[in-house]
Amino acid sequence: MSRRIAITPAEVDFSDPDAPASPTFGDVYHSRAGALPQARHVFVAGNGLPGRWQGRERFVVLETGFGLGNNFLATWDAWRQDPARCERLVFVSVEKHPLQRDDLARIHAGSELPELAAQLVERWPPLTIGLHTLSFEGGRVELLLLGLGDARTLLRELVLDADALYLDGFAPKRNPELWDEWLLKSLSRLSVPGTTAATWSISRPMRRALTALGFEVGLAPGFASKPEMTVARFAPRHTPQRPVGREPVAPGAQRAVILGAGLAGAACALALSRAGASCTVIDALPGPAQASSGNPAGLFHGTVNPDDGPHARFNRAAALATQSLLAELGVPHTQGLLRLETRLALAQMQDAPGYVQALSVDEASARAGTALGHPAWFYPGGGALDPAAYTRAMLAASGAELRLSTPVAALRETAGGWQLLGADGRVIDDAPLVVLAGGHAQLPLLGALAEDLVVQRGQLTHLPEAPWQPALPVAGDGYAIADGRGGAWCGATAQDDDLDPALRETDQADNLTRYARLAALDAPPRAPLAGRVAWRLVAADRLPLIGALAAPGTMAAQLRLQPRRPGLLVCTAFGSRGITWAALAGRLVAALALGSPRPLEAELLDAVDPLRFALRRQRRPER
Ligand SMILES: Cc1cc2nc3c(=O)[nH]c(=O)nc-3n(C[C@H](O)[C@H](O)[C@H](O)COP(=O)(O)OP(=O)(O)OC[C@H]3O[C@@H](n4cnc5c(N)ncnc54)[C@H](O)[C@@H]3O)c2cc1C
Ligand SMILES: C[S@@+](CC[C@H](N)C(=O)[O-])C[C@H]1O[C@@H](n2cnc3c(N)ncnc32)[C@H](O)[C@@H]1O
Repeated sequence: MSRRIAITPAEVDFSDPDAPASPTFGDVYHSRAGALPQARHVFVAGNGLPGRWQGRERFVVLETGFGLGNNFLATWDAWRQDPARCERLVFVSVEKHPLQRDDLARIHAGSELPELAAQLVERWPPLTIGLHTLSFEGGRVELLLLGLGDARTLLRELVLDADALYLDGFAPKRNPELWDEWLLKSLSRLSVPGTTAATWSISRPMRRALTALGFEVGLAPGFASKPEMTVARFAPRHTPQRPVGREPVAPGAQRAVILGAGLAGAACALALSRAGASCTVIDALPGPAQASSGNPAGLFHGTVNPDDGPHARFNRAAALATQSLLAELGVPHTQGLLRLETRLALAQMQDAPGYVQALSVDEASARAGTALGHPAWFYPGGGALDPAAYTRAMLAASGAELRLSTPVAALRETAGGWQLLGADGRVIDDAPLVVLAGGHAQLPLLGALAEDLVVQRGQLTHLPEAPWQPALPVAGDGYAIADGRGGAWCGATAQDDDLDPALRETDQADNLTRYARLAALDAPPRAPLAGRVAWRLVAADRLPLIGALAAPGTMAAQLRLQPRRPGLLVCTAFGSRGITWAALAGRLVAALALGSPRPLEAELLDAVDPLRFALRRQRRPER
């Protein structure tokens, strides 16, 4: 199984309570004179904070080496204490060896900031590679923590504009890779004119490299026994050109209209409103979550595969985002899910700490409450829920205005944004930012993008008296979810380009056969025809479409270089994973629109880019 998702957690030597140390690097995590005082002096004050964030909508800190999280806690505390603080603080940090949760809790057991430290420990993610988004203060403080990985790889995958840099590796002699020219160059690529940097180090090679990269470098009084520290300000002679395809499509927009009150639209409304935009959600139907997102139950979970490619990484990041949003919003859900593994034997299934565990047939059977025929992956953070309840919870938390029973027939670009038009041509609404999150029913609005999408019919079956009520949701070839009343939901069928809305006996028989196979029953149970039909909008590569459309003209050779239409984003093609994908997709939409740090690595931004199919066609034209 995957090697890439496993990371090596930090080994911490706690023997000196004033200075926890890393035996791996042979250095202490912070000055003996105190972690928080050091953070406040060197990194917060060294970057001109709190003054520099005052009056700003958003302020982005980028740190090398999250370590014990003291710099984050000191920054968050300074933000809370400042009545003139920026609206939103985004703290981005990269860490190769994150602490295990228990070690983090131990470090902060006697914290001077117990309330903040407890929240950090509570939200601490499973230690898997990639970007983890941890939200605090109702989304106004975000910590994007890069899990496993060398900063040298991860910094190149970030898409953001940093306002302040915290350079906090171990001593340059012991941890040279966090200070060398190559790494500092990556940081300068994420800087804009005026970005500041601070560090306790006064290493000459580092200062020379910063100067060569366009920073004005100076010295300031150091912390405790250190006479000096380094401060710097990015003032390049030539402003580096940013890839045009990565520019935000609606920077500064204070209002957004979102088409679709399903999972996708609700998640976009939540993320955009948290990012400061006031949102209106428009839907043709008389209530939210009445189309595909109105299924009575569904699963959410990540996936594992040996090469940990874009699908596995996107699904994992999305599942983790879902897990934390459900907890934050208090959405009822079943915690834990089993996915049967039919191709690999247990010995071939290796796991990643805390994220997914490999279970033998017996262990999996004990959890499922029936004799299963295969070993299984256990996803402690996966589960099942009522998608409509989740949608409503996101909409309620967003505070968005809902305009229901309002079909949109067309879009029209204006000087300041987009208008949404009814069938009679009347303007329903307009905004500087419009998000198309209307699932399969919006296909006529998607133009050429629709060519790359398939509408797939799916039927779920309700079994009122289930011979086996799974103690946990179980997925394999089909799935089963207990309904809490002695019955179960099982599913689901899939037929492309089939628009029949009626329940079908043949589909029911298929679902019951799958249910029987999952539970190793001798024969499928009998049940009266009952269930629900809905549609999945599916892209050829089974990833969603999240991003901006192409500006008129020819396609660029790379997605990052492709000019985009301003003010318009799509967030759709959630296939059979809408519950899992919505939370992350919404966050991504907000970041692509407004320009906050993107919650996905550049490679994954490209993997979900709506223009990927057009680019592939251009590279390999059909003969
Ligand atoms: C049988 C079945 C089982 C499934 N099981 C699971 C599962 O276990 N786990 C999982 O994660 N996912 C599952 N899914 C997939 C999941 O249901 C979808 O991915 C998800 O609901 C899609 O959400 P959405 O918001 O994109 O679309 P929808 O929920 O369809 O919402 C789109 C909304 O946009 C509105 N709209 C569209 N066009 C217009 C317009 N022109 N004007 C005004 N309003 C418009 C529609 O009225 C609709 O309300 C399943 C799907 C099916 C069919
Ligand atoms: C001095 S500690 C950081 C302390 C931290 N900023 C705090 O507030 O507690 C340095 C950190 O850099 C991390 N580190 C070292 N090399 C790294 C690399 N190549 N990429 C990412 N992180 C690295 C170490 O694991 C360690 O946690």
